[in-house]
Amino acid sequence: MKTKMVLTPEQQAMLNGEKGEAMAKVMKTLVMYGEAFGAERMVPVTSKYGHLVTSFGLSVMKPVYELIDKLLEAGAVSGQKFTVDPRPLDNNVPSNFLQNLLFKIMYSKQESYEEQLKKMGLINDHAFTCTCYLDEVGNIPEKGEVLSWAESSAVVYANSVLGARCNRNSGIIELFGSIAGCVPYFGLLTDEGRMATWIVDIQTTKIPEAQILGSAIGIKVMEDVPYIKGLTRFIGTELNDKTKAYLKDMGAATASNGAVGLYHVEGLTPEAVELGEKLIKPDAKVYVIDDAELERVRKSYPCIWKDPNATPRLCFIGCPHLSLIQLKEWTQKLEKRLNELNKEKVSIPTIFTASVPVLNAFSKTEEYFKLVKMGVITSYICPLMYMNNPLCGKMPVITNSNKLRTYTTCRYHTDDEILEIITKGGI
Ligand code: F3S
Repeated sequence: MKTKMVLTPEQQAMLNGEKGEAMAKVMKTLVMYGEAFGAERMVPVTSKYGHLVTSFGLSVMKPVYELIDKLLEAGAVSGQKFTVDPRPLDNNVPSNFLQNLLFKIMYSKQESYEEQLKKMGLINDHAFTCTCYLDEVGNIPEKGEVLSWAESSAVVYANSVLGARCNRNSGIIELFGSIAGCVPYFGLLTDEGRMATWIVDIQTTKIPEAQILGSAIGIKVMEDVPYIKGLTRFIGTELNDKTKAYLKDMGAATASNGAVGLYHVEGLTPEAVELGEKLIKPDAKVYVIDDAELERVRKSYPCIWKDPNATPRLCFIGCPHLSLIQLKEWTQKLEKRLNELNKEKVSIPTIFTASVPVLNAFSKTEEYFKLVKMGVITSYICPLMYMNNPLCGKMPVITNSNKLRTYTTCRYHTDDEILEIITKGGI
């Protein structure tokens, strides 16, 4: 195959089939992908671990299973071990007979797909989470490392908070990058592509709700890179567990309500600390966010419940998966509010989702026992995969996740509103 891209002799040999037909097809796909985006060369994937977005054994994804079988037969396994997005099912999460039946049919390939993932390079059985970059999970790329990931919330976090370099790839393409050990050099891998074309000027009177701020930014800048000013007034200049959790949730909203793959926060994120305003392109546009703008964005979310006044049947908190500090803080807030209301348990079935390693760490804290006593369920699932079917889609479910709101029928509420609803039992 003749390429516009300049390949190294090793990459060219792979493309020519010297490592087998399957590897040649993997390389050809990466070359075509890169050329579509104007890439002139490939660069090595330098992170220790990969991360895959396709974690669910949906029965209709037959071509994916056949493809992976062919790759495995040909010995074209991932060159790096990887984590993967959360599992779609967990018996801890309430579901009725019909829903269970539907899940069994929908995700009938879950077991066999997980076997394929293990053979392909899955780190271990507990490696299913979108927050692979948290300490307890340990897939934490370093600044400047090149990744081949696709999960939008993880890509935006790795780029922005860790300073790693990754494009918003699609599922399977990211696996191909991990198999071939290289990715096309364009977009967010380049210095130029990491420059900001928007200045977001935060002029609110109080700390913006992370999920609404991210949503506002995403809707405005779409796939561009924003440089956010004025946020450290509220969240400080230290990248600690609290600020990282804030940026995780804000970033996931920018990536799902828009298509942001990288943001810089003045005085906080690594490249902004290093380069400051040199990161801003001269013709950058300005977006001012004040209290009224956040209110406007919030009011624009449609409620697609049949009965907008229905009592919620479920509440999901943890999309992206919660961090340890978030689990502890939610427990403390719930305990305080229930005490004030003279109640012992939440009144709406509430599920906190987090990775297994984070949940294991949480189970060793005093907060864990308090949370269980208050009736909250913990789970490792992806709530989106629970919700995305006609049976669950009909239920009135609330969430504090703007990503979940965007992709499902869940209704969004701020953290404070959620606290009131689940403790009092209604809206
Ligand atoms: Fe994670 Fe699933 Fe939400 S992958 S970001 S919990 S949609």
